[in-house]
Amino acid sequence: MSKTLRVLAAAAMAALLTTTTAACSKTRSTDNAPADSGPALVGIAMPTRSLERWNNDGAHLEDLLKKAGYKTSLQYADNKVDQQITQLQNMINDKAKILVIASIDGTALAPVLQTAADKKIKVIAYDRLINSTPNVDYYATFDNYKVGQLQGQFIVSKLGLDQGKGPFNLEPFAGSSDDNNAKFFFAGAWDVLKQYVDSGKLVIPSGKKLPNDDAWKTVSINGWKSEGAQAEMDNRLNSFYTGGKKVDVVLSPNDSLALGIAQSLDSHGYKPGADWPILTGQDGDLANTKNILAGKQSMTVWKDTRTLGDQVAKMVDAITKGTAVETNDTKTYNNGVKVVPSYLLPPVVVTKDDVKSKLVDSGFLKASDLGL
Ligand code: GAL
Repeated sequence: MSKTLRVLAAAAMAALLTTTTAACSKTRSTDNAPADSGPALVGIAMPTRSLERWNNDGAHLEDLLKKAGYKTSLQYADNKVDQQITQLQNMINDKAKILVIASIDGTALAPVLQTAADKKIKVIAYDRLINSTPNVDYYATFDNYKVGQLQGQFIVSKLGLDQGKGPFNLEPFAGSSDDNNAKFFFAGAWDVLKQYVDSGKLVIPSGKKLPNDDAWKTVSINGWKSEGAQAEMDNRLNSFYTGGKKVDVVLSPNDSLALGIAQSLDSHGYKPGADWPILTGQDGDLANTKNILAGKQSMTVWKDTRTLGDQVAKMVDAITKGTAVETNDTKTYNNGVKVVPSYLLPPVVVTKDDVKSKLVDSGFLKASDLGL
């Protein structure tokens, strides 16, 4: 076949692909209505199904938007950045009017979001900020710095550090290095705890050097993986906790890491109610809430993801109707190119004493699932 024909065939194939993709995506998300008429299509990009909360986030937001008459395309990217970029490109090809994105790596989306901007598609960053691009219009999340502060303050009050108690053995952990939130969680906690590290009331036997908030990546666990945290905790306990030395407190930024850390403590013979350390968390995941009831985790910072979905649905509506989009923070979140107008929701501490009143009575978790 001559070179020209091959080029034409390729061009034809490309054209065919675009039309068929549009055609099949239309059927996938638009029930045969012509692409740019009828209700707006909202693309919802979630990072992964392997971390509990994102399943709730995606389902709740899609349900709200469908009930409001929008077409939706809800996609999960298995924590793979390329997969998320392809999914966003498909949503753009499908003529989405708005993209709601919980990014895996907030620094990797600038090119595809330029394509979106060229087509006047609005972008809402969901829970995690998108960095290094002007093409993000709004950000909705929880007060991420406050999440860390609540974990730090919980440790201070539980150990009596503000009463001069100590020294205690601390092991700090931080979230995934590609997640902008992880920086804020760590900074919130470390701005509370560092003074006690400096005064020697908190000692870090594993020798992790954390002179300032920017050092968080030296204790980060990639992908927020439980097994990554378990392996790291095993390593620290095996190497630095010999001869009867015990860990007194573990700063875990979220529940998926706390689960791995608890498994490591279990396998090293720590006993709840005896020598089990203070262990923090975040998200109110089911397995971790069970651990809280069993004395294997001390607290979790609950973020009612339903309220985040509600707020984002309001933003989508305002954008679609051309009315003012509600924000309550226009200072904190500079993504390296601009300060992104944001809406921050309040995180809440949950301990054994208020699992029922906060997580069960609000309908976030079922009593039957918790054995209550
Ligand atoms: C963060 C999110 C947390 C936690 C973590 C792992 O960005 O804010 O709630 O879930 O990701 O998924």
